[in-house]
Amino acid sequence: MGSKSAIAKWVVDNLPPADTWIEPFAGGCAVTHAAILSGKYKRFIINDITDSAKVFLDAIRGKFKAESRWISRADFFKLKETDAYVRLCFSFGNDQRTYCYGADIEPYKRAFHYAVFFNDLRPFQELGVDIPAETLSNKNSIYEKRMCLKKLLIRLRSEKHAGDLQSLERLQSLERLQSLERLERLERLQSLQRLVVTQGDYRDVGIPTGNCVIYCDPPYRGTAGYLNEFNHEEFYEWAARQSSCFISEYDMPDCFRLVAAKSKNVTLAANSNNKKLEGIWVHKCRANNMNGRLFNI
Ligand SMILES: C[S@@+](CC[C@H](N)C(=O)[O-])C[C@H]1O[C@@H](n2cnc3c(N)ncnc32)[C@H](O)[C@@H]1O
Repeated sequence: MGSKSAIAKWVVDNLPPADTWIEPFAGGCAVTHAAILSGKYKRFIINDITDSAKVFLDAIRGKFKAESRWISRADFFKLKETDAYVRLCFSFGNDQRTYCYGADIEPYKRAFHYAVFFNDLRPFQELGVDIPAETLSNKNSIYEKRMCLKKLLIRLRSEKHAGDLQSLERLQSLERLQSLERLERLERLQSLQRLVVTQGDYRDVGIPTGNCVIYCDPPYRGTAGYLNEFNHEEFYEWAARQSSCFISEYDMPDCFRLVAAKSKNVTLAANSNNKKLEGIWVHKCRANNMNGRLFNI
């Protein structure tokens, strides 16, 4: 629901370049990551009310390099308060509260994890899915193993495991494995020195004067809350006062103008998907001053 991974690059492509990128609701930092990779910004100020932005910095510094644990539903609820890897990589849409897999799909995800991380095909066998032992030989990276297994499973499913593996296809995005891959890529950014990370309320983020882009992806209106209740009216007032503030939302009050929009698959629950129009918005007064800096209007 809250994850921006799938559209992070699109978001950044639709924002103007600037000296400083500021993301007060950085969450799992998918969009900050895309902003770093874009080369459009020199400095980054990222914040979240939870420790997720700090975890991003830890990831860049390599803290999770050796991480390969499988986290079951029971592990998740036991460990999530104290273990950021568990809380972020195994929560549904990174909401940090709910386990990411439905009970029906969890055994398949576990089997996939064991195969990819430990070359252990026994959990698949226990589920009645025979994967030839040689499938993963010569495959070194997690990405290669994942892709190879995925192809094989899709073929097996169409041949004989249609019922069993249908739900695996439904969650083809393999969200958690993608999170791990993202961590791997972040580790390559270790040398990045221009990143300021804070934990706190968005109103306390120090906005420097000068050429900035403030990108806000607050909790969506009318969706289940993150860890805190969120006052949208106050946020709109705050956003209206900022000079270059872009907001991701489905819908906004009339004083904001839509500058780009994209259809997005929204996973509302483990078993249901929906399409929504994701927008990037800017306050009308500011939009008038920014003509020429905005794309795709
Ligand atoms: C939709 S998510 C952001 C996702 C993010 N764009 C990404 O790429 O992963 C919204 C984030 O706002 C954070 N949040 C909620 N209330 C906040 C507040 N008052 N100040 C700062 N962050 C807040 C939540 O912890 C959550 O991580």
